[in-house]
Amino acid sequence: MTATVIDGREIAKKIRKEIYDEVVSLKSKYKVTPKITTLLIGDDPGSKLYLKLRDNACNKVGITSDHLEFDENVSEDEITAAIQNLNNDENIHGILIQYPAPSHISQDTLMSSIDPKKDVEGFHPYNMGRTLLGNESIVPCTPLSVLTILEHEEVDLKGKDVCIVNHSNVVGKPLAALLLNRNATVLVCHVFTQDSKQYTSKADVLITGAGVPKLITPDHVKKDAFVIDVAIIPTESGICGDVDFESVKEKAGKITPVPGGVGPVTIASALKNMIKTYKNCFEDA
Ligand SMILES: NC(=O)c1ccc[n+]([C@@H]2O[C@H](COP(=O)([O-])OP(=O)(O)OC[C@H]3O[C@@H](n4cnc5c(N)ncnc54)[C@H](OP(=O)(O)O)[C@@H]3O)[C@@H](O)[C@H]2O)c1
Repeated sequence: MTATVIDGREIAKKIRKEIYDEVVSLKSKYKVTPKITTLLIGDDPGSKLYLKLRDNACNKVGITSDHLEFDENVSEDEITAAIQNLNNDENIHGILIQYPAPSHISQDTLMSSIDPKKDVEGFHPYNMGRTLLGNESIVPCTPLSVLTILEHEEVDLKGKDVCIVNHSNVVGKPLAALLLNRNATVLVCHVFTQDSKQYTSKADVLITGAGVPKLITPDHVKKDAFVIDVAIIPTESGICGDVDFESVKEKAGKITPVPGGVGPVTIASALKNMIKTYKNCFEDA
């Protein structure tokens, strides 16, 4: 039987409705409109497109979103000074950095410069540490989006075999922690994994984000598994993911498409995090 295709746009719509209602009630409580600022360094067209999508999503739920744009030759000191100003500005309730940043600027320095309570992306070592310790507060948006999809589909993670193909700091590592916190048995593959198929093909839930088109074929998938494709790969024929969708959907039980799967839920998850940082500015974090 063909897999159920998960509609990420529908899930995102539901989240946006919940957030809209919450923003209305929080605005009447705090008498201030939530406002977030994104720092954009350089002129990457992909980043500009992503910012536009995020601005639209923010506007729809009543969050004000603005940007600080910097030339790609800006110094690290100038950027960290700008972040410090935003940390101290009581009219700003959340801060994001649009990656990629130029190579002369350390991502670690940027992430660590943001006040953890305003850290919309959850990358600050304090927030990452809380995620790892099972005391989750602000969790990175893409792992949160995967978790949201699993929760939406009522997957009980306890005791499930989950395989993640990605061990980056933004996807695989925090996602592994979130899944362990929910008592799944987690296996993480990466480029040095020898024969990743032997692991992926045993997983009840397979989450992949390698950025390699058609990496995951039916041989990699257990029958009736839940396959979640995080990758977003631009190709001449449009955007695709890691999964060879047409063949894998004949074997999987549930599957997320690209586009229209994890991506829209990730943008909605960023909105969820903005609400958290907004509340942090008025309540003890
Ligand atoms: N849907 C969304 O909302 C969303 C959000 C963020 C990112 N993404 C997409 O997700 C993908 C990953 O993003 P990222 O920032 O995590 O990228 P990344 O830092 O390049 O990470 C890719 C990961 O995949 C592993 N990998 C690469 N080729 C592999 C292979 N052949 N077999 C097994 N593992 C392999 C890499 O291993 P090594 O570390 O050992 O090289 C790394 O852990 C990208 O396509 C990105 O566009 C989507």
